[in-house]
Amino acid sequence: MKFLVTGGAGFIGSAFIRLLLGDPDASRRVVNLDKLTYAGNLENLATIAGDSRYRFVHGDICDAALVNALVAEEKPDVIVNVAAESHVDRSILSPAPVFETNLRGTFTLLEAARTHQTPRYLQVSTDEVYGSIDPPHEADENYPLRASSPYSASKAGADLLALSYFVTYKMPVSVTRASNNYGPYHFPEKLIPLMISNAMEDKPLPIYGDGQQIRDWLYVDDHARAILAVIERGRAGEIYNIGGSRALPNLDVVRKILAAVGKPESLMQTVKDRPGHDRRYALSSEKLMRETGWTARVAFEDGLRATIEWYRSNTAWTAHVKSGEYQKYYQSNYGGRAV
Ligand code: NAD
Ligand code: TYD
Repeated sequence: MKFLVTGGAGFIGSAFIRLLLGDPDASRRVVNLDKLTYAGNLENLATIAGDSRYRFVHGDICDAALVNALVAEEKPDVIVNVAAESHVDRSILSPAPVFETNLRGTFTLLEAARTHQTPRYLQVSTDEVYGSIDPPHEADENYPLRASSPYSASKAGADLLALSYFVTYKMPVSVTRASNNYGPYHFPEKLIPLMISNAMEDKPLPIYGDGQQIRDWLYVDDHARAILAVIERGRAGEIYNIGGSRALPNLDVVRKILAAVGKPESLMQTVKDRPGHDRRYALSSEKLMRETGWTARVAFEDGLRATIEWYRSNTAWTAHVKSGEYQKYYQSNYGGRAV
């Protein structure tokens, strides 16, 4: 089976490619189309770079000529669109690239899949499209879309666009909506890697508002297995939620990180809340489990321990991704935020 994976140099895309090619005997081929934005990093794929089953193409999913030529040449059995501008805070500071990649990029890939009759298309999306969910409810796949940020609105729009190609053109499209991921190779702009990295450097840990917002944490390798399960056993035209193994308030997550890194809670610093901040995400993965047999394997404490261990052993990776552009971003997001 030949996979065209977009955004394969990012956090989740690289975990998915490492899963696909992790078995040396698997008769899979993988083409990775990635623009290498600030979040794309070929170091994430160092373990498979020399694999003869793998090809990297440097390019933009919005580039219709490039995407068309690539799909015509490679004739993939499946396109897995993982590429995105993926961070809520960046989408608030600067929404334009978010709409360009997440909407136009998805449209460009769908059009290429339609032209070349790609047998399968998977759109990787997020539980954030459901917006904040009041307890005790959890979202199933029919829950209303109520996106709060430019990021989540762009993902919701892309989901609807992808599903419209199933309804209108009978294209075999599926959508997955995962909860918050964590794990190795995570860019230190999201909660868990940012807190690990700052704690290790004795820098303040910025807590938005009261820190009682709840996220449902999914280990990245569990997410990668779920994407493969949907490709292999999911139905076209369907949406599949992928929930995590543990729902926790942010403060609890940060306290666990500080305890594991051996740093004092005094490093936590309350800062101005994120505008439009979703209070709680909660997801039912019952459909995915019933139809594909998938379950989350990694308990949160084990995943967090493995993640912290990875950051301890890969300080050069973190130093590299935190140089340059990152400092500018950090200043613009956190600079005027003291309360
Ligand atoms: P990431 O920011 O780590 O990686 C994104 C990748 O896409 C990078 O390699 C980047 O270079 C590439 N990219 C960006 N714009 C591109 C373009 N125009 N053309 C080609 N490549 C481009 O993101 P991630 O955390 O790995 O998220 C991947 C996907 O999973 C996204 O669609 C996101 O919405 C979804 N998702 C993420 C989470 C999470 O917790 N991180 C949870 C649920 C769903
Ligand atoms: P994040 O990792 O950005 O994921 P998302 O917003 O997509 O859920 O944030 C997770 C939670 O952590 C969210 O409630 C916002 C909060 N948060 C902080 O309190 N401080 C931070 O510096 C960051 C990046 C996030």
